[in-house]
Amino acid sequence: MSKTIIAGIGSYVPERVVTNEELTRLMDTSDEWIQARTGIEERRYAKRFEETTATMGAEAAKIAIERAGITAADIDFVIFATLSPDYYFPGCGVLVQRILGLKEVGALDVRNQCSGFIYGISIADQFIKTGMYKNILLIGSETHSYALDFSTRGRNVSVIFGDGAAAVVLQPSPEDGRGILSTHLHSDGHNAEILSMPNPGFHCGVHNEQWKPSVPENPYGSLFINQELLDKEDFYPYMDGQAVFKKAVVKMPEAVMEALNQNGLAVDDIDLLVPHQANLRISQMIQQTMGLGEGKVFNNIQKYGNTTAASVPLALCEAWETGKVNKGDLVCLAAFGSGFTWGSALMRW
Ligand code: UT7
Repeated sequence: MSKTIIAGIGSYVPERVVTNEELTRLMDTSDEWIQARTGIEERRYAKRFEETTATMGAEAAKIAIERAGITAADIDFVIFATLSPDYYFPGCGVLVQRILGLKEVGALDVRNQCSGFIYGISIADQFIKTGMYKNILLIGSETHSYALDFSTRGRNVSVIFGDGAAAVVLQPSPEDGRGILSTHLHSDGHNAEILSMPNPGFHCGVHNEQWKPSVPENPYGSLFINQELLDKEDFYPYMDGQAVFKKAVVKMPEAVMEALNQNGLAVDDIDLLVPHQANLRISQMIQQTMGLGEGKVFNNIQKYGNTTAASVPLALCEAWETGKVNKGDLVCLAAFGSGFTWGSALMRW
């Protein structure tokens, strides 16, 4: 069976830079707090009424397709990972199919938040290894800034997240030894609400009384969205940051070790680890606990914040563009986030 390589990678971030200082004008926060707790110096926000998750994903995809040395007509499957889709349905995959004028190929949306790109890589790898597809377009893209609580109430979430997109084209490896060695996916739904955006939603409060909507007068009234939700402004993401942090620093290294063990490799063999850009302190803690040397963990959260499904490919793209990933390198991708879901992908570049 042929291995899968990343044949082309591209990224797109909106022009608008939002500094920590700008956020201090909206809520009770400070540049010192944000930098000390997260490492973030600035992030990008999409141009309202022009840029969306799908349009930014399409821009990143154009670059990835060109760098892969193919055209849009060669794409035979699309995977789109996001938690901020343009429409509740249909997904962004079909919007990209339309924007890029792709053939009537399959388009799959992945709803795995921070680990969405890793899940997408794993799905693509299975299709390519079996020979079903030859050019898979995988996109991770987010426009968080359209639905964050910019009051002090939402500051633990809103200062972290940023907008952006990145994409890869996956193909069968032309050479022995190169390509994805293994992918490892995990989930634990016990803490599904710890990092979530339950509303608007179809849940009716069955998983958590806190989010039970009041019974509408009309027995067929919408349980998805109602005036009460709007009045209470109960439609923002929720996160217990400390609980997520504690799990992330354990589960990401576990997933990396699982990949290394499966392939008979050791931590020292890794040339570059590209972790999900959730918090610089998480990346630093992982580097320290795993004993990864200087320069072996790539971070760009300082410039873009946490871009969820886009974060791993956005970091990987910059690492590749700046010469930190070269042919033959052992590269490991890892992510952890809402769900919880987490995983890793180990590859010989
Ligand atoms: O990508 C998905 C996965 N997400 C993650 O992995 C995120 C993981 N968690 C984190 O990155 C961190 O927990 C945060 C950056 C979200 C928060 O940092 P923390 O060091 O865990 O802070 P905390 O939540 O324990 O809050 C400490 C204090 C609180 O005040 P009191 O109760 O001590 O008075 C918060 O109200 O900091 C306050 N705080 C803020 N202060 C200024 C929370 N957010 C802010 C803020 N500015 N933006």
